[in-house]
Amino acid sequence: MSEAMDAQGVTVRVPGKLNLALSVGPRRDDGYHELATVFQAVSVYDHLVVEPAAEWSVRTVGDYADHIPASVDNLAVRAAQLLSERAETMVETQPVCGPVALTIHKNIPVAAGMAGGSADAAAALVGCAEVWDLGVLREDLEVLAAELGADVPFMLHGGTALGSGRGDKISPVLSRGDLHWVLWLTADGGLSTPQVYAECDRLREEAGVAATPMVSQDLVSGLRTMDPDAVGAALHNDLQAAALSLRPELQEVLDSGLALGARGALVSGSGPTVAFLVGSQAEALDLSMGLAARGPAGDILRVTGPVTGAGVVGSRGPGPQLGTG
Ligand code: C5P
Repeated sequence: MSEAMDAQGVTVRVPGKLNLALSVGPRRDDGYHELATVFQAVSVYDHLVVEPAAEWSVRTVGDYADHIPASVDNLAVRAAQLLSERAETMVETQPVCGPVALTIHKNIPVAAGMAGGSADAAAALVGCAEVWDLGVLREDLEVLAAELGADVPFMLHGGTALGSGRGDKISPVLSRGDLHWVLWLTADGGLSTPQVYAECDRLREEAGVAATPMVSQDLVSGLRTMDPDAVGAALHNDLQAAALSLRPELQEVLDSGLALGARGALVSGSGPTVAFLVGSQAEALDLSMGLAARGPAGDILRVTGPVTGAGVVGSRGPGPQLGTG
């Protein structure tokens, strides 16, 4: 048992993500779309406390607590239970995987295109592996992560990475340095990911467009040095048109941030969060103040990336709420 755990359990910290590129192929027979994407984990964090308990439970606290299922339908509970079922096949000893109580301290915006639910599932895998003292490898957890959802493997991995397949096959992108982002979060509720993908299919069918997923070389080379102008010019999201079709007011948000000097802007994932790339912390401050003063109403966060994926940070209580602007 590691130092990070006491008799009460462990706390796992997990970041949110942005998609710097999201290229969507045709819908597959299993309902998913073939993707080529570049993920970046950014410094807005959920904390998940995992404690041994008499029965399985989950509760959520924090700003977005009301929007999360506080039942065994929660993806974090599904993750914990899946690991308990499979642990026997993953380790040589006979593991004892008793029920756990999960407490999610929620800071990652919900239904916002930032993989908050997937992040909590990744955190549950890491936390339960620690509480049950399984000694499993990250690669073993990645197999379970992919079963839980397309974004879950990246939330274990963190950093900046290419995602292929459903987005669940991860390979790291070579990069040096940090990117500074300003996130605009709508106060009008989230967007449903399946609905945004369906709208993307509908728009493409209407236009007679078919696409092969690929990530631009310009983005990959810009990321090598984290050059904000090169990365900003290469940001691209195939789901953006669908998110704008469902939420036309997002166009005004994108235009306002670019007019205020952002180096690049896009809808994150299936939206409706809008991510603005800036060149420094000072530019992030200027842009967030400009958006707050003149832009369309919404919460504003300043974050940096890349940051590491789900990891144990200590025992029980949540750690400091870092980087939430
Ligand atoms: O895997 P996850 O449950 O996070 O995906 C949510 C939904 O997003 C899927 O049910 C599917 O409608 C859509 N999706 C997709 N293609 C992907 C990833 C997600 O169509 N590669």
